Amino acid sequence: MSAPTGNIPVTCKTLVQEEEGIVLKETPIPEVGENEVLIKVRAIGLNPIDVSGCDLTGEVVKLGPNLKVDIRVGDRVSATVVGNSASGRGAFTEYAKAFSDLVWKIPQGTLSFEHAVAIGSPLNAAFQALYGVDDLGLTQRFDSAAQGWKDETWVFIYGGSSGVGQFAIQLAKLSGYKVVTVASPRNHDFLKALGADAVFDYKDPDVVQKVKDVAGNKISHVLDAISGNDTQFTSLKVLAEDKPGKLVTVLPHAEGIQDVRKDVQITMITIFTSYGFGFGGKDADEYARRALSAFLQKVPGLVKDKKLKHIPVKEFDGGLEKVVSDGFEYITKGKVSAEKIVFTVAYQGLQDGHADPYSHG
Ligand SMILES: NC(=O)c1ccc[n+]([C@@H]2O[C@H](COP(=O)([O-])OP(=O)(O)OC[C@H]3O[C@@H](n4cnc5c(N)ncnc54)[C@H](OP(=O)(O)O)[C@@H]3O)[C@@H](O)[C@H]2O)c1
Repeated sequence: MSAPTGNIPVTCKTLVQEEEGIVLKETPIPEVGENEVLIKVRAIGLNPIDVSGCDLTGEVVKLGPNLKVDIRVGDRVSATVVGNSASGRGAFTEYAKAFSDLVWKIPQGTLSFEHAVAIGSPLNAAFQALYGVDDLGLTQRFDSAAQGWKDETWVFIYGGSSGVGQFAIQLAKLSGYKVVTVASPRNHDFLKALGADAVFDYKDPDVVQKVKDVAGNKISHVLDAISGNDTQFTSLKVLAEDKPGKLVTVLPHAEGIQDVRKDVQITMITIFTSYGFGFGGKDADEYARRALSAFLQKVPGLVKDKKLKHIPVKEFDGGLEKVVSDGFEYITKGKVSAEKIVFTVAYQGLQDGHADPYSHG
């Protein structure tokens, strides 16, 4: 079925990667294909690897044919799209298209667009890292029947205050696991409130021993949500020596890391493989996509029940025009600490002053 198109403009503003860098251009509104929806973007969230943007929230304004899930025009949704250097077009636009099975509806009366966008791809990354069959392979326990389940397995998360880390803590706790993490001391209380059982300072020279001690030297599951060279080697050291373990990274592996512990399974996740996009040496992964899609259908319930909290939001003014000069600048200066940079997006109309043709006021 198709939806009204009369209110949708022909072009909109989009941040596009050109030879001279990322520039704001007037671009055609994308055609929606099979299983795609067109979204009028209301807010965007920034990630460290973004080029044209991965995370957006907005209203569905048009439906493509053969949608895989029930989505209607007017639904408020959160979407993650492939916004790296190879994709051409991402979330940093006034109108974006997304796969219906990889968006989730923002429940009425819960989060604003600006708060909901501070969930997005870091949640997907944490989900894939913890539950991917080839990654940590933990057990999902989000349904009411599993509530209160206790599992004495410890999960160590390097960088709990990062976006990926915050969702990894929350998901692991929802699944009943024990969580120990490391972050700067200013974020310790916050991470305990998110559910972490123990939090240490990654700059503490005794951090490895402290992590091992709190978990009784039994850690066999580790997610390095930072994945620098040094953090990967530290992550490896917290694993119990007397049994095989698993380490998942979010960036390519540090050179020589596999030689240190041959009995540890070390993998790297790339969320774009769930979006039909080969990336980081991995092919598109239909199985991972189905798992992610099934999980995303549960996210509205978790949000509504306040079981899943968004990353604390740092809002910037100026819309798409200020993403590079202010947003990327803040990220590249290393200022992000337990926060998500968010911009409101409002359709500007064409240069000749046309008003927003799809304004809901
Ligand atoms: N592979 C994928 O598909 C995928 C998907 C999403 C993200 N990623 C990657 O995952 C990483 C995290 O992304 P994000 O959006 O979650 O990051 P983020 O929220 O921007 O990370 C900021 C946090 O990083 C922490 N941090 C920085 N350097 C650290 C260090 N040396 N040790 C410990 N913590 C450190 C800071 O902690 P404190 O303030 O507490 O010091 C800060 O809270 C990035 O490299 C990103 O590119 C990969």
